[in-house]
Amino acid sequence: MPRSESLWTGTVDPAQYPPLDADARADVCVVGAGIAGLTTAYLLAREGRSVVLLDDGRPGAGQTGVTTAHLSYEIDDSYVTMVRLHGAEGARQAYHSHRAAIDRIEAIAQLEGIDCDFQRVSGYLFPADRHGAREIDEELEAAKTAGVTVQRLDAAPVKGFYSGACLHFPRQGQFHPLKYLNGLAAAFARLGGRLHTGTRVTAVTGGTPATVQTTGGQTVTASAAVIATNVPFNDRLVIHTKQAPYHTYVIGARVAPGAITHALYWDTDDPYHYVRLHRVTKAQLGGDNQDAVDILIVGGEDHKAGQAQDAEQRFAKLDVWMREKFPAAREVEFRWSGQVMETQDGLAFIGRNPMDEENVYVATGDSGMGLTHGTIAGILLTDLIAGRANPWADLYDPSRIRTGAAAEFVKENLNVALQYASWLTGGEVASVDEIPPNSGAVLREGLTKVAVFRDEAGELHRRSAVCTHLGCIVAWNPAASTWDCPCHGSRFDPMGKVISGPAKSDLADAEKG
Ligand SMILES: Cc1cc2nc3c(=O)[nH]c(=O)nc-3n(C[C@H](O)[C@H](O)[C@H](O)COP(=O)(O)OP(=O)(O)OC[C@H]3O[C@@H](n4cnc5c(N)ncnc54)[C@H](O)[C@@H]3O)c2cc1C
Ligand code: FES
Repeated sequence: MPRSESLWTGTVDPAQYPPLDADARADVCVVGAGIAGLTTAYLLAREGRSVVLLDDGRPGAGQTGVTTAHLSYEIDDSYVTMVRLHGAEGARQAYHSHRAAIDRIEAIAQLEGIDCDFQRVSGYLFPADRHGAREIDEELEAAKTAGVTVQRLDAAPVKGFYSGACLHFPRQGQFHPLKYLNGLAAAFARLGGRLHTGTRVTAVTGGTPATVQTTGGQTVTASAAVIATNVPFNDRLVIHTKQAPYHTYVIGARVAPGAITHALYWDTDDPYHYVRLHRVTKAQLGGDNQDAVDILIVGGEDHKAGQAQDAEQRFAKLDVWMREKFPAAREVEFRWSGQVMETQDGLAFIGRNPMDEENVYVATGDSGMGLTHGTIAGILLTDLIAGRANPWADLYDPSRIRTGAAAEFVKENLNVALQYASWLTGGEVASVDEIPPNSGAVLREGLTKVAVFRDEAGELHRRSAVCTHLGCIVAWNPAASTWDCPCHGSRFDPMGKVISGPAKSDLADAEKG
């Protein structure tokens, strides 16, 4: 049976730092130690700022620990979309910013001596079916309009996979995200940065000074605050109407080393498949020697978060697709899933938090490219906090409105509105007897709904199923063992404890909720 964890958490332990136990003062307080928060904190510290970085868990405990770690300037939402929504100049800036992010990760790894398996690899976009060839030609045209370095090939010159006609993006990157984060955290600490894990933040208030409050009762005061919690918890609506949570699935299968060329591979399907390889040792997989093994990482099968509960079928479909395209794949060692925030115009929101004080900044809306977007956030927010001009500021401005994205805005917000109808429907199961151990389901009880989790010992744990953000009904996510909100992406552990916002508080007691 494959391990239900990512290749990254399965091979590296995220670093741990002491929790914040007293009030503190800093130039900047950053909340969230994923790639966005850590890069921002590190770059600010490099410029001599005093920085306090707070995280509820450990660095990488969020989505950076379950990524697939493609570092690419081929935009997930395509250059066709970039040119249509952001114009040729916007598409050009998107290209430059993502390319600069890959360069910056490589430079930081070199400067700080971070052994994170960083590797330059080619990226190939290949057709999912016979219609895909046309999409590839359109993407080539749009990419050229944006000035992207790209070429069309009859087939990718690789071992172990036949792509057909494809686009080649040279000098992309890949790395081990947790090795990188651990190294970045250590470098931040060497620069005098103060990182506190196990510290949950409940409120951020802008002003002079900005204040950041924790569940432990401590307050950090700072000249500026950055919210890099993947989904911001201090915004009730402005950003949440402009992005939507999607759940995505990954499997990692053994491959003989060298049987498939290390590269980034994507198809044109919707949702698309994303593929890469990572080399580990047999010992890291529980074996007794240091022989090399390649893990073929295959992702896809995305759906709107909280709106599907067929994880087994999705993993099975990925497996079938992988074996058809990559016949060298052997047994699946890892399988995992995670959440991405899709913005209506395909780019992240990085900058001043809309309708907040001037000194509160946000990084969110990863759009499936959160490693490069998170690194762009570090570069851009450091400039904004220092009062320097940055050419990408308008492109990523969280307050931006792109009129061409109106249809996507209406579609996603209609979808959110429809979720409230689940207040009126029945439960996922009629009785708790239908809930197997280590699983959960939502039940109707009179006028409300209850989220019931049955633990391994068979004991039932009941919480209100009403999301504490804006009242949608959560759904059980069997792949990640979480309660996921279908509206704006809040997630709760099986006992109802909030893992990620925008909800700030845990699911209520079932008897009171
Ligand atoms: C399966 C999958 C594959 C992906 N593949 C790619 C890829 O190939 N390339 C790519 O570029 N991107 C990819 N992404 C997206 C990318 O991994 C993420 O967008 C990115 O890692 C998010 O980084 P982050 O710093 O914004 O958030 P996170 O890594 O989620 O970090 C946020 C941190 O904030 C902390 N936090 C949250 N709330 C609070 C609070 N109230 N108080 C204190 N701390 C808090 C959390 O503990 C967490 O550590 C993928 C995502 C998934 C799920
Ligand atoms: S995340 Fe907004 S209602 Fe649940």
